[in-house]
Amino acid sequence: LYIGIDLGTSAVKLLLMDEKGQILRELSREYPLEFPRPGWSQQNPEDWKAAVWEGIPALLEGFDSSQVAGIGAGGQMHGLVVLDDQDQVIRPAILWNDGRTAKEVDYLNETVGRDKLSARTANIAFAGFTAPKLLWMRENEPELFARIRKIMLPKDYINYVLTGIHCTDYSDASGMLLLDVEHKRWSAEMLALCHIAEDQLPRLYESYEPVGTLLPEAASQLGLPESVVVCAGAGDNAAAAVGTGTVGDGACNISLGTSGTLFISSGTFGVDPHNALHAFAHADGHYHLMGCMLSAASCNKWWMDGILGTGDYAGEQKAITDDRLGNNHVFFLPYLMGERSPINDTNARGALVGMTMDTSRADLTQAVLEGVAFAIRDSFEVAKSLGIPITRSMICGGGAKSPLWKKIMANVLNIPLDTPVSEQGPGMGGAMLAMVACGAYPSVEDVCKKLVRVASTTQPDPEIAARYEARYRRFQAVYPALKPIFP
Ligand code: XUL
Repeated sequence: LYIGIDLGTSAVKLLLMDEKGQILRELSREYPLEFPRPGWSQQNPEDWKAAVWEGIPALLEGFDSSQVAGIGAGGQMHGLVVLDDQDQVIRPAILWNDGRTAKEVDYLNETVGRDKLSARTANIAFAGFTAPKLLWMRENEPELFARIRKIMLPKDYINYVLTGIHCTDYSDASGMLLLDVEHKRWSAEMLALCHIAEDQLPRLYESYEPVGTLLPEAASQLGLPESVVVCAGAGDNAAAAVGTGTVGDGACNISLGTSGTLFISSGTFGVDPHNALHAFAHADGHYHLMGCMLSAASCNKWWMDGILGTGDYAGEQKAITDDRLGNNHVFFLPYLMGERSPINDTNARGALVGMTMDTSRADLTQAVLEGVAFAIRDSFEVAKSLGIPITRSMICGGGAKSPLWKKIMANVLNIPLDTPVSEQGPGMGGAMLAMVACGAYPSVEDVCKKLVRVASTTQPDPEIAARYEARYRRFQAVYPALKPIFP
């Protein structure tokens, strides 16, 4: 048996899988997310640990836990986790969707220079990346910064408390702006620029490599044998790509989680010359390009739970019938946390535009789903402009539970979307990486080929897609028009 961990932003999702890829149980445990100021976003790493510690025994209830061979995690990327010399967490983790580092990002991109950053790391600075957060901490919390003994990413913290080993993997490390992605080694220049030493950083592994086994204390608390192998794991997007079989040249996965991502795998290293898409290492040992929007399923959650005050997502979506698709007169900008790809603007904000007296609740709900799909299309257009032909894609994440949202997405992109058996991409991927680490499969490619199955396909409809094409052209004008009024 294998345990896959998806250390997400709203919750940890755990999954128990057998060697044939059958999912035996899935569960999730939520934890709080703090927004201490507008655009700031942080979480307590100890809450992640508590959720995993509570979740694993519940996941295993009724199963023979002595049969568990491996654990693999996919985790929210970029979050800065810092420990002192007593292994205590120094401050809450600053997350991937935190926008406090606008000044540091400016310094990196404008003063150090985009060309230099891109030559050293394959990427430019974005507010959510880890390096600008280190600069922010040094400037704003110098006493805390001076205490940093270990720097790691969210899922690395879980691996650390499981094994005692300070490790990370290339896919997740790619998002720190400290890694020379092409050559898979820390960039000495970037470390110097951030005033950190290599011994503060975790050791680098391929995602599918074993890093160690459980600490005796962790094993006994979790009810697992000490022999359980923990693999390095991956950033959640790379893990989701494994979980959806998105490996090799030109395969695509769309994830509709708290963030929304368009992930394109590649056998070879390549950079978007405009750096609108991230150039990162993949969990299969190769590379990928990725566009990341900061608020995807979280826009829908904000709208449904926060504004309408209902948990009945499917019920709200019932009124949105096919004839309405592409005919909505309301536009929604999904920039509730600012935006990363492709506009890179921490000051961008959400907007509902174009209402009339006959605008209904359903029109607004529809506009929210469409705004997210249009914003994914923005990254899709960047990929197209690089000559990357995307003719179909996998889709996963909480948003992929909605048939309507998938229909909107398939028509906005005008490609078929395949949904795997479980929409829990990163958890599946984590368990599959653990299988490779334990030797059950020879490679990531092989485990993908053997275990990933498409459960359903959402086809675009030519008429609806044509209507959305016209709507998308107008959507593209909304952000530039509103930009002057954002802070
Ligand atoms: C990717 C990114 C997000 C987080 C979400 O660059 O920031 O997708 O990984 O968990």
